[in-house]
Amino acid sequence: MSHIHPKTTPIYQTSVFTFDDLNALEQYFEQPGQSYMYTRYSNPNTDELAEQVNKLEGGAGAVVTSSGMSAILAAVLAVCKAGDHVLCAEEIYGGSSALLTKELTRIGIEVTLVPTDSMYKLQPYVQPNTRLLLVETMSNPLLQVFDIGRLAQETKQHQIRLVVDNTFATPVITKPLALGADIVMHSVTKYLSGHSDVTAGVIVCQQQEDLQRVKQVMMVYGLNLSPFEGWLAARGLKTLRLRMRQHSSNALAVANYLQAHAKVEKVWYPGLEEHPHFELARAQGHGMFGGMLSFRIQDDKEAVNRFMRGLQQIPFASSLAGVATSISYPLGTSHRSLSHEQREKMDITAGVIRLSVGIEEPEEIIADIEQALAQV
Ligand SMILES: Cc1ncc(COP(=O)(O)O)c(C=O)c1O
Repeated sequence: MSHIHPKTTPIYQTSVFTFDDLNALEQYFEQPGQSYMYTRYSNPNTDELAEQVNKLEGGAGAVVTSSGMSAILAAVLAVCKAGDHVLCAEEIYGGSSALLTKELTRIGIEVTLVPTDSMYKLQPYVQPNTRLLLVETMSNPLLQVFDIGRLAQETKQHQIRLVVDNTFATPVITKPLALGADIVMHSVTKYLSGHSDVTAGVIVCQQQEDLQRVKQVMMVYGLNLSPFEGWLAARGLKTLRLRMRQHSSNALAVANYLQAHAKVEKVWYPGLEEHPHFELARAQGHGMFGGMLSFRIQDDKEAVNRFMRGLQQIPFASSLAGVATSISYPLGTSHRSLSHEQREKMDITAGVIRLSVGIEEPEEIIADIEQALAQV
């Protein structure tokens, strides 16, 4: 069938590949990437996704995984063993901090959460066994923006790796490896795939040594992605640049609208001049600030309920980054497991609503929010 030349990659929905003879088998081991053996090791669809994300992030290579969580797991296990120590930004996705503090600690990996105001002064937190710092380019849900270049200087000085979760920013806005990060990972579930129909993750490495370790962990722990999900994500990725522009300009319009609304007490969006990291976000994001924002109405769950019920077009969904706008409630979802003190410290109170701004016409999004706020 060598005369068939599909314009897009077909779906290789197979768990295993065949070899003609033992010579072909030897070739598989001698020339990695030229042929395939078993989908848990590699598959053309997941390879395509890895190559495309690697190109966007500018790394030495990438490995895709079954979820964003397994991407974080693979990144940490690639670098750490029992007895090692990991630093993690305190303001981070609740699932990431749960994975580190509740699970990896059980297998002997020590974890310290670093408060936001200490992120550029790691000295008091670094130990002889510290291996890495995990941080998000833009934090979830309050959109604190971290200066990746400064963090990289700091981690290099302490000879630990900088691992950046670039899920919220995407490489369209920020490329952490070019700013000195060692490993970048994503929940591909979010912007990279973009259509709320895939659960996947990816790890991009700057160093071959890390890449080989991540591949090994992915294979032997069985963290691989399925061919169909790889295909869907690679398809979504083709429009990433266009989507991010529209997500960003829509979110800026919505943030400006919310900021001027009498019932809105506070808006967190790095594209607003009042945001403490506006200048950094502008420089690091090439003038785009992403599609995520959070805002606070009165700190009353019933008021939040009235707002949610009032929305006609925008659903409540505990994920983000799809083409359609959705809202979420950090206190009830991503940050549910935090203690009362942690939530108060992080300013995630009862009235905080997170908005994942989609790519609809901005007037449509604002009109729905307007009529729902009128019911609060
Ligand atoms: C910033 C960030 N990192 C990682 C994850 C985990 O990704 P997944 O849900 O694809 O496992 C999430 C999920 O919400 C996230 O928001």
